[in-house]
Amino acid sequence: MCGIVAYIGNKPAYPIILEGLKRLEYRGYDSAGVSILNGNITTIKKKGKVAELEKAATEYDLNGNLGIGHTRWATHGRPDDINAHPHISSSGRLTLVHNGIIENYAVLKEALIDLGHDFKSETDTEVLVNLIDELRIKKELSLEDAVRDALTRVIGAYAIVVFDKENPNVLVGARKSSPLVIGIGDNEYFLASDASPIIKFTNKVVYLDDEEIVTIRRNENFEIRNIKNQVQNHKIKELDLKLEELEKGGYDHFMLKEIFQQPVTIGESMRGRINADEGWVSVGGMQENMSRFLNADRLIFVACGTSWHSALIAEYLFEELARVPVEVEYASEFRYRNPIISEKDVVLALSQSGETADTLAALRLAKEKGALTYGIVNVIGSSIARLTDCGSYIHAGPEIGVASTKAFTSQLVILSLMALNLGHRKGTINEGYFRKMIIALESLPKKVERILKLNDKIKYIASEIKNSQHALYLGRGYSFPAALEGALKLKEISYIHAEGYPAAEMKHGPIALIDEHMPVIIIATNESAREKIESNIQEVKARKGIVIAIITEGDEELKKMANYAIEIPETEEPLSPLLSAIPLQLLSYHIAVMRGCDVDQPRNLAKSVTVE
Ligand code: G6P
Repeated sequence: MCGIVAYIGNKPAYPIILEGLKRLEYRGYDSAGVSILNGNITTIKKKGKVAELEKAATEYDLNGNLGIGHTRWATHGRPDDINAHPHISSSGRLTLVHNGIIENYAVLKEALIDLGHDFKSETDTEVLVNLIDELRIKKELSLEDAVRDALTRVIGAYAIVVFDKENPNVLVGARKSSPLVIGIGDNEYFLASDASPIIKFTNKVVYLDDEEIVTIRRNENFEIRNIKNQVQNHKIKELDLKLEELEKGGYDHFMLKEIFQQPVTIGESMRGRINADEGWVSVGGMQENMSRFLNADRLIFVACGTSWHSALIAEYLFEELARVPVEVEYASEFRYRNPIISEKDVVLALSQSGETADTLAALRLAKEKGALTYGIVNVIGSSIARLTDCGSYIHAGPEIGVASTKAFTSQLVILSLMALNLGHRKGTINEGYFRKMIIALESLPKKVERILKLNDKIKYIASEIKNSQHALYLGRGYSFPAALEGALKLKEISYIHAEGYPAAEMKHGPIALIDEHMPVIIIATNESAREKIESNIQEVKARKGIVIAIITEGDEELKKMANYAIEIPETEEPLSPLLSAIPLQLLSYHIAVMRGCDVDQPRNLAKSVTVE
């Protein structure tokens, strides 16, 4: 949700910032802008993607080795050139980029107008830059002190970077609830929302913590202080991220690359955590806190979006394999209903980005109430990874397509491993089943490879239903959350209205929608509900719905019944969503491409939602 990148050093800043913005575009892409210091401040802001900014910039002199850039996902004010960041204070001295929301901006704005400040945009950010400038002038403060003073007066979330044109050797950044990383190069520094714009230049980074302010002085060092003006010492981290991981690698879209990476990423998520020959499963973060898990009254999962669907699958996994009560919560709802949480609960946050504001807020509440907090996160060093007491990285590698694919399957791997680990320790699963599950897990990458070979067939099915206005996804048991995720994938990237339903619930409403125009995607791989799902297919067919069935290889009966059948390899039922997810991802992908949609950056969405 908004991407920030800034540079101070001896190289031309603009090309570095532009490239960085392209890498951060997944965070928001309704408008973009840069400010470069070249004696004065040259600022260019454009509605639309970074490419629009790039076109507009050709007409300007952007030579300078200090600058800031921003790619926006609008919160306050519609996406247009004026509301795009950076915003400049009315004195013309300060320019600032911001990711987050200043909740008390209206009161501050009124006060600043009374003091003679003049506002051009509808944004909360312009209020913040004027507030900093007002304090700088009135109290004769340095830029960093003015930033600190201003931030004590704002309520809300922010990652900001600001500079003063009269002070060309200083860049100031700060964060609260929105991420900001410092990249440390040779006589050059970067500030960015994540490490992707930085990694080309240096792998040395420092992650700012909440309410910390960094002051970077050109050709000198940087200093971090907290909002109370106390010096903070951070260890420099070395990132293990390769530039190729951030490229499309010959695929048309990041989403397609990420779908096709799954045989590898699923394997990576298991690496070092499972051994079929020796018959063990061990998930580090859980192992270290095993007594809390063994004595937990409940496991509570908090998440949003696709991660919430993984959490729903976790409910089935942990209740079945480890016999522990599980609750699954939308992170955004959890905190507003005064939930009952005790020290005997374990609260697990699932998040690809590790930055989702609602999930972070839910975790803070859980911590306050004394629960053990556990993060299941993809992005190393992200806010959730740092806030939680313990956790496991899913190791799916950078996921750039806005619609989550490989992170979903990797989350399911970790959740399956954790449920098995706990079930085995508790004795709620027998040794034979435990071994069978380990073997099934280890064979997943090969099975995913086989499913990916069905790409052409799935593309053909996509061409048959691409003009639909609605779609229904049905599943039972483990396949119900998988159906929800299938529907979400379709709606987010193709803009077709899609709903996921427990197959049996179809009779209580959605059946009224079925006619010859309605594709019904039925996940019919689970043996335990085989007959019931067969009846559901009949019910859809009787109403002329178009049945696309995901079935187990060799299920001739269901194959005959369906209009289109996608046959996938058999696996243990708790692992079935890991396989059924793949054809559903491909189906959505091809439909979206055929409809001319922007697959990697669907309208109105952002990959990392850092506002509540
Ligand atoms: C956004 C993304 C989704 C993602 C959700 C939760 O809505 O577009 O793909 O599932 O946020 O994100 P998280 O990073 O917490 O998994």
